[in-house]
This record gives sequence, C-alpha cells and structure tokens, in this order.
Amino acid sequence: MRELIADQLIAARERTARLTDCVEDHDLTAQHSPLMSPLVWDLAHIGNQEELWLLRNVGGRDPMHPEIDPLYDAFEHPRSERPTLPLLPPAEARAYAHEVRGRVLDLLAASPLEGTLLLDDGFAFGLIAQHEQQHDETMLITHQLRRGPVALTAPPPPAPAGAELLPAEVLIPAGPFTMGTDTEPWALDNERPAHQVDVPAFRLDTTPVSNGDYLRFIADGGYHEPRWWTPEGWEHRQRADLSAPLFWTSEGGQWLRRRFGAVEPVPPDEPVLHVSWYEADAYARWAGRRLPTEAEWEKAARHDPATGRSRRFPWGDASPGPEHANLGQRHLQPAPVGSYPEGGSAYGVRQLMGDVWEWTASDFLPYPGFRAWPYKEYSEVFFGPEYKVLRGGSFAVAPVACRGTFRNWDYPIRRQIFAGFRTARSAEDA
Ligand SMILES: [Fe+2]
Repeated sequence: MRELIADQLIAARERTARLTDCVEDHDLTAQHSPLMSPLVWDLAHIGNQEELWLLRNVGGRDPMHPEIDPLYDAFEHPRSERPTLPLLPPAEARAYAHEVRGRVLDLLAASPLEGTLLLDDGFAFGLIAQHEQQHDETMLITHQLRRGPVALTAPPPPAPAGAELLPAEVLIPAGPFTMGTDTEPWALDNERPAHQVDVPAFRLDTTPVSNGDYLRFIADGGYHEPRWWTPEGWEHRQRADLSAPLFWTSEGGQWLRRRFGAVEPVPPDEPVLHVSWYEADAYARWAGRRLPTEAEWEKAARHDPATGRSRRFPWGDASPGPEHANLGQRHLQPAPVGSYPEGGSAYGVRQLMGDVWEWTASDFLPYPGFRAWPYKEYSEVFFGPEYKVLRGGSFAVAPVACRGTFRNWDYPIRRQIFAGFRTARSAEDA
C-alpha cells in the first residue's frame, strides 16, 4: 500500500512537472483565460492542499507558511481574481511544493494506514494524489486555452480496426443494478453509498458522437433551429453566438481546430470535443434521441448481466491499462471512435472510460444516504440543478482519478473542458 501510494504521488508530480517545465516563467504567471488560474497558482495550491491534508491533518504538523494559506484557498478567490494576488513566483512555488512532498514521503513511511477514516486504506494520500492529477487536467485545459507556440506534444492514439462494423447502438435491458460504491477505497463522497437503481430498457450509442456526426448537425443548420434547443440553451446559443465547438474555425469550406497551439483539419472519426451541455442536448434532439441519464450511463458501463454485479470499470475490475482506455495524457486528443475493443463494457459499449468526458442528462445530486466527507466543499456545496453530471473521464484524466463510479460536474455552458457526449433513446421508441 505504501509503495502504491508513493508511486501515485510521484506519477502526479512528474505530470505536474511536464505541464509546468515546458513553458517560460511568464507563461506560468500569465492568465491565459479568465476561466483559469495562472499555472503558478495551481502549482502552489497543489503543495498547499498536500500540506493541509497530509502534513497538518494526518501528521499533526504546524503550518509551514500560514500567511500563504488564504492565497491558495480555492473558495476565497475566484479564478479570475487570482492573477492579482501576491502569489509565490514560479521558483518559490516549485520549492514549496517540493519541500512539502519530501516531508510527505517521510510521513508516509512512518504513518499507520488505518485507524481513522482519513487513514483507512491510505484515503488521505489517495485524495491528494487524485487532487494533484485533477489540477494537472485543469492545467492541461489552461494549455489548450493558451495562445503561443506549441509547448506540449504527444503521439496520436492508435487507430481502431473494424470500427465501421460496430453496431450504432446497444440495447441495455430493463432491470436494477448497483450504482455507486461502498468498497472502492479512494472513491470520493459523491460516489457513495452503493444503492440499487431500477433502469428501464434503453439503447445507448456504442461509441461517443464523432466530429463527422456533429458536422452533419452543423451542416443541417442545427445551430439556427430553435426547436432542437431547450429555451435556456437557445438563449445561451444566441447570447454567446455559438456556431461550432470551441476552438473550431471554418476556412474556405474546411473546418479546422486549434489543439494545444497547432491548427489542423477537424478529424471526422474522433469523438467531438469542447461542446457545452446545451450543444450536446440540442444535437441529441436533432438526432431524434436524448442524452443518457447518469444511471443509464453507469449501468451500461458497470453492470454485468452474467453475474448481476457492478464492475469497477467497463472491462472488469482490473485497473486501467493502455489497452483499455485513452487516459493519463499519454495522447493529447481522443482516440477515433470504436477504439479500445479490450475496454468495452459487458454490453459492448466502447470508450466509456477516457477519450472525452461525457455529458449526461442528469443534475448533480447526492445519492440516497450521502454523507459529506472529508469536507462539505468537496461535493455538497455543488449539489443542485445548476450543474450537469459528466462521466467517464477524458484523455486528460489519470487512472487514479477515474472509476466507473466517478462523477464530475460542471455548468451546462462550459466548453473548455475535455467534454463530448453520446446519445440514448428509450427502448420502446421505434
Ligand atoms: Fe484544488
């Protein structure tokens, strides 16, 4: 367990370094979008949360620099305000995070890993490894929003064989399944507790909606037809003047996209990325379909009809490997639709994990019996109809921060996140 925790902490820090060593200091302190913090804020915030949860709460140590705590409290300062704060400069931020990490590895070697809720199964350490990886995903979004020369590169994901032979949709028969978890040691409060949910029969897309599919919606005038949109979605579409996914431009009849600083033709066989919930919802209605509910998504991903139990991941209980899913920033784009046959669910649904976060129809709400843990600001303060749930992680999500039960949430207008979607329909619909 200690070795596994240390490996996860080290992997997260290596990724943080890759994301922050590839640009000059002025790129670390600049704000590339009002939606995002300067990268240097994330860097010191990662160290500060690690100090708070591990050195102080688990280890009982005194604060190292109490005067900087308020600067890095995400609830005290909205992202847009953070560049105006007296933040630690890059060298100091790196040194602080490094100093905390050294002390944490000493603590890990000496600390019991059971006896309190924070310590059991190394939960607090797992929380911090996930937290750093989640900020790495946030920093990758900042890189995507950043203007300037290319700083990050990665090989493209492998292309699938025989994807064109896949059925367009899969039938998930009616019946109950176990949603959420009581047993996943590093699951967060909003994934708990496990509970039975009865899901009527439905059909779900085998793969996420592709750019090629989405281009047909655009070409058919989908952005100019109010009947495909909810009233709020239509109002937003007009106000924000949406006409294509974020980072897309049309030049001489060809659609191009900007991806981590490089401009390239939109690849038709990749899952569509950088669409808001409103756009996903409108597309689904145009296609005569709808977004899946969160329960439908999780049943398609986890339920094994042969055993009646829910799997940790679509392919089974084994931790994600490169053969299962496009996770962990190995690639800087989603894999073509139909990829990862070894990552398919019991029902044959592909790419539920990795590639693109998938918008669901559901609001972010607590499960029956929810208990806030380890603090209310983790999930509870976000519950309500203003946030929509996303599932499955993206190419930017690390395996440690991804599970069949993992829930993400965001505003329905958000487009800079690595989100796409797939569609569903009720089984009784013709
Ligand atoms: Fe954070």
